Amino acid sequence: MIEFKNVSRVYPGDCIALRDIDFSIKPKEFVSIVGRSGAGKTTLLKLLLREEQPTEGEVVVDGKDIRDLRSKEIPIYRRKIGSIFQDFKLLPNKTAYENIAFAMEAGGRSDEEIAEDVPQILNLVELSDKADNFPCQMSGGEKQRVAIGRALVHKPDILMADEPTGNLDPLHTWDIIRLLCRINELGTTVILATHDREIVNALGRRVISFDKGRLIRDEEKGRYIV
Ligand SMILES: Nc1ncnc2c1ncn2[C@@H]1O[C@H](COP(=O)(O)OP(=O)(O)O)[C@@H](O)[C@H]1O
Ligand SMILES: [Mg+2]
Repeated sequence: MIEFKNVSRVYPGDCIALRDIDFSIKPKEFVSIVGRSGAGKTTLLKLLLREEQPTEGEVVVDGKDIRDLRSKEIPIYRRKIGSIFQDFKLLPNKTAYENIAFAMEAGGRSDEEIAEDVPQILNLVELSDKADNFPCQMSGGEKQRVAIGRALVHKPDILMADEPTGNLDPLHTWDIIRLLCRINELGTTVILATHDREIVNALGRRVISFDKGRLIRDEEKGRYIV
């Protein structure tokens, strides 16, 4: 369970990125966070990852105010949350397989676990045949699927996606959205920040709309109206 309780975030220079935001997300929900550029979507995701801190209010995850996490608890907390971004953030000198394996290694997983899990993850993201390709040898959609695979290595409860289709053509966009739906069906909470009207309307899932840092709408079967 994720709870934002009267959260505001003011950046230095008096930029109010979020104003008095209050909502919660239940386990296994699929939620789209929508709004124009500058609405506060990325700030919201950064607060959840504890990369930013609220100026006021609390972000409570599984009953704990994440402000109270000690610095050595933060990496463990962050493993609950897989994240993907518009620009993929893959390591260019590593193959699809190695990008995923490296994330497991960095998380302290054994060689045996890596050898067992990486092929399964590649299978889930339908990239078994591209395991040995480097990022420069893959399409944007394939790169984003590697990034999704990497985000899943710690079997996160939550997958957050910040404009994951911003660099993709329509065909690859739908591949990624279908994959996010599949991951959600397998039991992971998905939080999708996007300003793509078509995706949000086609999903027919919960939509939380932001405008200039304000939560203006929260609907169970929402449409993109900002
Ligand atoms: N590090 C920062 N310092 C100052 N202002 C910021 C910073 N990050 C974001 N902002 C401002 O906060 C507002 C919300 O930004 P952001 O959360 O990135 O919105 P979105 O992801 O919806 O485009 C914008 O006005 C942006 O300029
Ligand atoms: Mg953003």
